[in-house]
Amino acid sequence: MRALTDPASIDLRHMVPHRVPSGLPVWDQEITGSRSGRPLTGSSGLPEYSQRRLARVGRMRREELFSRSGFYGFLLESNVLLHREAARVALDAFRPVVLAQGSKPVSVLDLACGGWPVTIAEVMAAFPHVEFQYTGIDINPDQVALAANRFPFPENVVGCRIVEGNAWDLSALDVDDRYSIAFSGMNLHHGTPREVWFLGNQLKGRIQPGGLFFSHDVYRPDSEPYRPRPETIDGESTRLVEPDRLASAGAPTLHIEQDRGVAEPAWRIDYVQRMYRTLLARGADPAGAESTASHMRSRDYPLSTGEFCNIMESHGFIVHVRRYDASPEPLGPFVASCALTRPARAINP
Ligand SMILES: C[S@@+](CC[C@H](N)C(=O)[O-])C[C@H]1O[C@@H](n2cnc3c(N)ncnc32)[C@H](O)[C@@H]1O
Repeated sequence: MRALTDPASIDLRHMVPHRVPSGLPVWDQEITGSRSGRPLTGSSGLPEYSQRRLARVGRMRREELFSRSGFYGFLLESNVLLHREAARVALDAFRPVVLAQGSKPVSVLDLACGGWPVTIAEVMAAFPHVEFQYTGIDINPDQVALAANRFPFPENVVGCRIVEGNAWDLSALDVDDRYSIAFSGMNLHHGTPREVWFLGNQLKGRIQPGGLFFSHDVYRPDSEPYRPRPETIDGESTRLVEPDRLASAGAPTLHIEQDRGVAEPAWRIDYVQRMYRTLLARGADPAGAESTASHMRSRDYPLSTGEFCNIMESHGFIVHVRRYDASPEPLGPFVASCALTRPARAINP
């Protein structure tokens, strides 16, 4: 365990892509701590309370795709999930929030940040005269170590904390109360509608009035019924939030048309096949393409953008969706970016 959580004892260099979508060189120089002298910390060694919670919910704590020897770096480098497009859209969404902060540092909370938070890093780098305070959360200790010790955050990130824990239940974590911006890249598609409701319920209290929640994620086609996530995968619970936590927060049962058929729906087959073929066409190691497809088959049960909007609007967010159906990228029809504004004043329904 120590070997994985103690950044000093591991060398993750072999799994980091040479360039991230931003074009930032990743390994051009040895990075120890911080290039800019800012505090750069990773927190592992979770409080006992969080440990207990993590032990109960299903989690992708040791998911192969995101582990030390995993393949996610290739997905970023080959842009199959449209990280570059998302960064461009996020830049426009961030601008008014960043400008409204004046000379104050902009606080950013990155949910399920991963070891290479490339999208958010690219957006922060695009405001070189603005200071950012960045807090990333990830459940996988390998990713925490990578982000905390190796990832080259831009110089204007003046404070950087990477917290190990479950980003779906923030109350168990040591994270500040209010952020200017919350960001989530490629993780919401693992949540059930009630869990997404639960996350939105927490975020509305953690984002400053006038602030932003930006999500870049996988969504299923609006015309297809929701495929419920299995309760267990390989004998492990898939829960991201404990049922008693959902109940005590008042998470409603959402009335969404469901597909409970035995056969795999055509859209899911198409989604996985597009990824698999695109990865191979872009020079992926076949074993890596297979591990990605296998993760998607077992873990991805996305909402539609319409459902996501309804849930988040019920929390008072104003949602703007940017779809990529017209993109030449093969996965475009399954990816969208959503900019969710928390109005400066509450809107009366
Ligand atoms: C697909 S990667 C996304 C990384 C990055 N946010 C991006 O946009 O590319 C998903 C990340 O979510 C993390 N993760 C999965 N479940 C999580 C949870 N419940 N809480 C926090 N992180 C989680 C994984 O460890 C992995 O690093």
